[in-house]
Amino acid sequence: MLSSKVTCNSHGQDSSYFLGWEEYEKNPYDEFKNPNGIIQMGLAENQLSFDLLESWLKNNPQPAAFKNHDNQSIFKELALFQDYHGLPAFKNALVKFMSEIRGNTVSFDANNLVLTAGATSANETLMFCLANPGDAFLIPTPYYPGFDRDLKWRTGAEIVPIHCSSYNGFRITKSALEEAYKEAEKQNLKVKGVLVTNPSNPLGTSLSLHELDLLVNFISMKNIHLISDEIYSGTVFSSPSYTSIMEVLENRNLMNTEIAKRVHIVYSLSKDLGLPGFRIGAIYSNDELVVSAATKMSSFGLISSQTQHLLSEILSDKKFTKSYLSENRRRLKERHEMLVKGLQKTGIRCLQSNAGLFCWVDMRHLLSSNTFEGEMELWKKIVYEVGLNISPGSSCHCSEPGWFRVCFANMSEETLNVAMQRVQSFADCMAKKNIQSRHQQLLQRNSRRSKSLPKWVFELSFHQREITADER
Ligand SMILES: Cc1ncc(COP(=O)(O)O)c(C=O)c1O
Repeated sequence: MLSSKVTCNSHGQDSSYFLGWEEYEKNPYDEFKNPNGIIQMGLAENQLSFDLLESWLKNNPQPAAFKNHDNQSIFKELALFQDYHGLPAFKNALVKFMSEIRGNTVSFDANNLVLTAGATSANETLMFCLANPGDAFLIPTPYYPGFDRDLKWRTGAEIVPIHCSSYNGFRITKSALEEAYKEAEKQNLKVKGVLVTNPSNPLGTSLSLHELDLLVNFISMKNIHLISDEIYSGTVFSSPSYTSIMEVLENRNLMNTEIAKRVHIVYSLSKDLGLPGFRIGAIYSNDELVVSAATKMSSFGLISSQTQHLLSEILSDKKFTKSYLSENRRRLKERHEMLVKGLQKTGIRCLQSNAGLFCWVDMRHLLSSNTFEGEMELWKKIVYEVGLNISPGSSCHCSEPGWFRVCFANMSEETLNVAMQRVQSFADCMAKKNIQSRHQQLLQRNSRRSKSLPKWVFELSFHQREITADER
């Protein structure tokens, strides 16, 4: 009875990434009401700096109460019809905030900005603008599981993975780019571009200058687009420093070229300000045709004027944004350290990272077999027995089994401590089991060996035993 679009399975809802959320919903951890429940560590939410936003709202009550600086009501103005161009005051404040995050090394023009209901909508809108159904975008693995839904489902576009691996810390290489391009050609897919997340979800690392240069060279040579999803740009809490693709274009004097026109940024306040519920996203493009097309499309997913007004006031308060950004980074760094050290104590290693709301955790040594079946088996154990919902690498299309994304900023410090205690008991239990099974294997091997010993060894040892008995 329903359309093929809604009944096809390219929505991706059946991935373990979303299944884990469902399991959490059925049995959510609560320190008092449900202390044995599942702790949600599969959600990249930033809850570390709400107090800063709340105290701003307390000190500046007018915008949330539909009032201007003269305390007069602006309710009617905000409630009436808005066009899809957005409020100029908000767009100006947002581009300045984007520059501030990048240390003011680049400036953004509000005329090149298109407002969207979150980065989800921004990514899909860009797909609608740049790709026909059946065209492909290349994406380095591991990647954000939501891309399967956001980029493919309604647009009919395809994703071809650029396989990155642990040997070089999952860095993008020229050969991996070329291989992905060839693979798309083999599948008769027209490649329209590359999409990267910088800093990366799920790796928590920012792209190096070398990788950024490779990407610009690649899209230039192949005459394709580059989308840089920079939704985590304000979460960089430690070195190496972060470079936006716009800075690379500027530094290479490519700003007013055809190449720059094919580079588009996706941004959102869901992570940096921790406001995913407000649905504030944007596309920044150097191509006016893309800006114009995306603006028209944005009428399917606008940000309410009320939200735009509130955020234009918050982001225009430069004293606030400066202190928010540095305090938020400090808190993220602290949390990141807590998780890394907590896991280290149990013998679990994380990929070295400098950004994001999660760690990319290496649990290969805990797999029963070096396969994705082994990974799912371990994941189920962690969800149901340990009580932690984490995201298996396979849901991020990682090509090596045994990696997991573990989020650290969507819970209190106390809850993270409980999670670490659970991991510790799990690791102890696994170690005990390993010793037992190794012991058993040894016993089996010995008994097998004695059964298959050649006759002369048996006779010799028998003889030796006799001698020993005689001696006694
Ligand atoms: C890389 C990436 N892009 C886009 C999104 C979607 O963000 P939004 O809540 O702004 O739609 C996410 C959310 O986790 C993400 O990690």
